[in-house]
Amino acid sequence: MSSHSTPIPPSRGPVEWSASDAVKVADIMSRYPTKQAAVMPLLWLAQDQWEWIDLDVMRLVARTIDCPPSQVHAVASFYTMFKKAPTGKYLIQVCQTLSCALVGAEKIMAHLEKRLEIDDHGNSRDGLFTLLRVECLASCGSAPMMQVNDHFYERLTTETCDQIIAGLRSGKPLALPRPEVDEWTFRVS
Ligand code: FES
Repeated sequence: MSSHSTPIPPSRGPVEWSASDAVKVADIMSRYPTKQAAVMPLLWLAQDQWEWIDLDVMRLVARTIDCPPSQVHAVASFYTMFKKAPTGKYLIQVCQTLSCALVGAEKIMAHLEKRLEIDDHGNSRDGLFTLLRVECLASCGSAPMMQVNDHFYERLTTETCDQIIAGLRSGKPLALPRPEVDEWTFRVS
C-alpha cells in the first residue's frame, strides 16, 4: 500500500447504498468509536459494490460518516488497495520498494509490461489485466513479489511470472507456495 499521485477519476453519477449494504454500513459503524473512524471499511464495502471508487462513491461515504468529501478522497487516493478507475479482471500490483528492488523488481515489472503489452497503470486490451507499481506489500522476506487481486506471488522470476500469467489467462490460477509460510510450518512441525 502506498501513495502516488492519483488523477481525479471519472464520474458514474450519484450512488446510494442498497438496503442490504445499509445494514452492513450500520454494523461496520457500530464497531468504531466515531463514524469517521469507519472510513476505510466503508470504502472497502463500496469497492465491493461498485468495483472502483469514483468521486460519487467518495461523496456517499463522506455523507455516511459526516465528513468533507476531501477527507475521504485523501484516504482513498493514498491507498493503492482502493481502485480509483476501472481495472481488468486481474489487478497485478508489483512491489517496487527496497527489498524487492534489490532483488529484481524492475526486471519483473519490465517483463510483465512486455508480456502483457501494457505500461504501469495500463489495462490490457482483452480487459483481463491491470498492472500497477506499488510500494511495500509487507512480504519483504520473499522478494521480489507481486499481488494479483487478493493473492501474493513471491520470490518471483520471469519464468514464474509467465506461468502465473498463463494460469490466469486459462482461468486456472497457479497455486504457488508461500515460501515464508512453508518455511515456518517446517520449523514448527
Ligand atoms: S519491499 Fe517488497 S514486499 Fe516489502
